[in-house]
Amino acid sequence: MSSDASLRKRKTQPKKEPIRRESSPANDIQNDDDFDIDTSALFWYTRIMWIPLILVTGAFLYYNPSALQDAANVFLGLESEDTFGAPGVSGDLRFIPDAQKKDAIVEAFKHAWRSYERDAMGCDEYHPISQQGSNLTEAGGIGYTIIDSMDTMLIMGLDEDYKRARQWVETRLNFDRDALFSTFETTIRILGGLLSAYHLSGNDPLYLNLAVDLANRILPVFDTSSGLPQSKVNLAERKGYPNDEFPNLVTTAEVATLQLEFRYLSYLTGNEKYWIKVEEVMKTIKEARMPHGLASIYMDVDTGKFVPSAIRLGSRSDSYYEYLLKQYIQTNNTEPVYKDMYDDAIDAVHGHLIKKSPYARMTYTSELIPEQHPNGQLSWRLTPKQDHFVCFFGGSLMLGAIITGAAVEQSLVSVPPKKTDFTVIGTRDWQTGTELVRTCWDTHDTATGLAPEVVHFRIPEDGIENTNMHTPVDWYIKGARPGEFPPYDARYILRPETVESLFIAFRLTGDNKYREWGWSIFQAIERHCKVETGGYAAIINVDEVPSRQEDKMETFLMSETLKYLYLLFEDASVIPLDKYVLNTEAHPLPIFTPNIRTSFVDS
Ligand SMILES: *[C@@H]1O[C@H](CO)[C@@H](O)[C@H](O)[C@H]1NC(C)=O
Ligand SMILES: *[C@@H]1O[C@H](CO)[C@@H](O)[C@H](O)[C@H]1NC(C)=O
Repeated sequence: MSSDASLRKRKTQPKKEPIRRESSPANDIQNDDDFDIDTSALFWYTRIMWIPLILVTGAFLYYNPSALQDAANVFLGLESEDTFGAPGVSGDLRFIPDAQKKDAIVEAFKHAWRSYERDAMGCDEYHPISQQGSNLTEAGGIGYTIIDSMDTMLIMGLDEDYKRARQWVETRLNFDRDALFSTFETTIRILGGLLSAYHLSGNDPLYLNLAVDLANRILPVFDTSSGLPQSKVNLAERKGYPNDEFPNLVTTAEVATLQLEFRYLSYLTGNEKYWIKVEEVMKTIKEARMPHGLASIYMDVDTGKFVPSAIRLGSRSDSYYEYLLKQYIQTNNTEPVYKDMYDDAIDAVHGHLIKKSPYARMTYTSELIPEQHPNGQLSWRLTPKQDHFVCFFGGSLMLGAIITGAAVEQSLVSVPPKKTDFTVIGTRDWQTGTELVRTCWDTHDTATGLAPEVVHFRIPEDGIENTNMHTPVDWYIKGARPGEFPPYDARYILRPETVESLFIAFRLTGDNKYREWGWSIFQAIERHCKVETGGYAAIINVDEVPSRQEDKMETFLMSETLKYLYLLFEDASVIPLDKYVLNTEAHPLPIFTPNIRTSFVDS
């Protein structure tokens, strides 16, 4: 028996059935009948029990008034003791590497990588159950899986595997492919992977040359009237193409998540052209600001304006928020325009999207869905839906709090931060961040111990207020019903966002619970996603055991999920957060002070 069952303490009520179905209020009341106990006797008993406790607490606080302040700090996840020093300093006892757990994670990486290598080397994607590879296009592979995984090998010290991967890149990789590729995915996975491999290999020129070649092929996508890049690129033609579904639309995430990679390439090469293109995008976005400060998921590539469409922190906009903060971090806090844009966006998120669930008071983010009325007016409907994607946001808010929300010099923020380390805004962001990390952890409270792709939270309109003493769980997987094929929302596809936040939260607090949660998630992946013959697979329903697997191993398992898990148990001197910024595919890029200045001034 492993320890994770005890770690996964249910915050609300014991699960009544394996599937958290989308239930009507009537359904809930019915379910609650399963808990037949004499509630009235329990009610009075619990009331009477409180009296001595209140008396003792009162006396204690009378003699120890500072305890209240300490309690408030504990609530915020803050430290009331003395400073421990800069973020995750090596040698700090709380950051001692855990060799055994690191080894287990390295074994998992080898299980994934070596089966890919055996069955599909050179193919973009891997299908572990059928033990074969496939390419994104018929024009041939572009090293999607290999390049995405190389920096993880370097970090884990897998030298032999790394050498074989490098050999493939040197002799077989070719970007001259006459087909359409996603601008965004190619940038974050391949360009990001090459740049990170360049840095971590000690500046192996192979990678920089390839990065320049690839970036030059991508660059023409920015030649549009707004400066927003086209969604697709033909790498052989060196030409941008719209996506076929909505030719004039691009998603906010895909245009605003190229900046770290192109800017670092400019820094490395001394050639400003990459930087200027992606900075133009940020100017366009800044000018397009909507009155409430939020960003819709779609923009018009011709006009450069936001198009009425969903507003959320999840898919199609998530990494826009991530990169606002990270652009500020990347250039060593020298570009205040990104801090302003970030603070503006996070204010708006707090004003409109952050909500609490009714019973367990779980903090979550809602979505706003536009509705066009017959009279032409637009209104926004709040939908309590949170993508797994959003789970990056808890850690990101915590990181932002110690950077844009620090009341002291950043290097003086202690670990964990003290209340006095923060401005009012910093305190708010830190608190929301820690609460969101916990919520994401709590959504792992499923039959498999893995979180679904999308969760919905209960709101009063569901009729939950009627259910009285018996609280239903605060969240559910929409459309999941016993005996029916699980909905899209019920899947776990090896996504990294929760462990990403756990890694950041651990580095910023030294709080061991984040390691415990990460370990529990790792064990659940081992138990339910591992394919015996090699590799790991997505599962189609997190609330079903034994789990049903799907024949796909996403590349972000090796580039992100296993890397973040490994770093969670590694010494804090490996990829320290005050020296690196990780791109949205978890490729670490060094923070630098720009030696080339560009023209983006805050107007
Ligand atoms: C995918 O592309 C790679 C690299 O060009 C090639 O070696 C491999 O055979 C291709 N695989 C498939 C299934 O087409
Ligand atoms: C960032 O700026 C600080 C001064 O504000 C400097 O001490 C530090 O070396 C810079 N870091 C990098 C990586 O340039």
